[in-house]
Amino acid sequence: MSDHPAILVFDSGLGGLTVLREIVKARPDAACAYVADDAFFPYGHHTEDEIIGRVVPLIGELIALQTPRLVVIACNTASTLVMTHLRASYTVPFVGTVPAIKPACASSKTKRVSVLGTKGTVKREYTQRLIQDFSQGCEVTLVGAPNLPSLAEAALRGEDVGDDAIAAEIAPCFLDGATRTDTVVHACTHFPLLQDRLTALAPWPVNWIDPAPAIARRTAELLGPPAPSGTAAPRPSFRFTSGRPALGNGVLAPFFGAQVPA
Ligand code: DGL
Repeated sequence: MSDHPAILVFDSGLGGLTVLREIVKARPDAACAYVADDAFFPYGHHTEDEIIGRVVPLIGELIALQTPRLVVIACNTASTLVMTHLRASYTVPFVGTVPAIKPACASSKTKRVSVLGTKGTVKREYTQRLIQDFSQGCEVTLVGAPNLPSLAEAALRGEDVGDDAIAAEIAPCFLDGATRTDTVVHACTHFPLLQDRLTALAPWPVNWIDPAPAIARRTAELLGPPAPSGTAAPRPSFRFTSGRPALGNGVLAPFFGAQVPA
């Protein structure tokens, strides 16, 4: 077995790069392969059956092709639906990405928390259950932002994305009254791509909860201690399911610096 454990990181698009970045930091010894299912993007606009029917066989094909030691589903819209199906179908360990409602509610001082996700994620039974089980007395507002994943991708590619378009998507997160919202959960991996803009456009400062570091820690834990190696891990690889060319270094450098995916 290679000294460099192979990890497959999967998302509908570029949002999972926010998770890959943390995995690369936590496990620089790993050989990461990133697959963006851009041919089916955005997942937030598909029905539950369509997502299950798309993701479960596609992950099976990728496992057969890449034989990863572990698979990270870096997408809330998919993870809130497909994890049980994936675990029942394939023996490789999986790490999913689901809304970080428990830590958000535990840390909120005003007891007002918003969960910002795709329209699919905020509708899921899975998300409703997380709120029932872990809201810890907080008032939790679910906000589906239908355009924010595409705006985040456009901004990452260097396209001009206006403040108004972003502000309109996040506005319902901010509730004011006897108390104000003080915590917003990134329940979509695309949204931390816009973190600087979100921070600047928020009507007042809030704590934005990005689950990526916790996902990276869980990934590292499941892999076990790194094997001593005489060779550097390969750069992460990057592939779109549409077959279009991988992203240029200009897009990826802010994430990975010298470790820009090949
Ligand atoms: N990055 C995905 C997530 O975490 C969703 C974006 C999409 O709609 O495809 O939910």
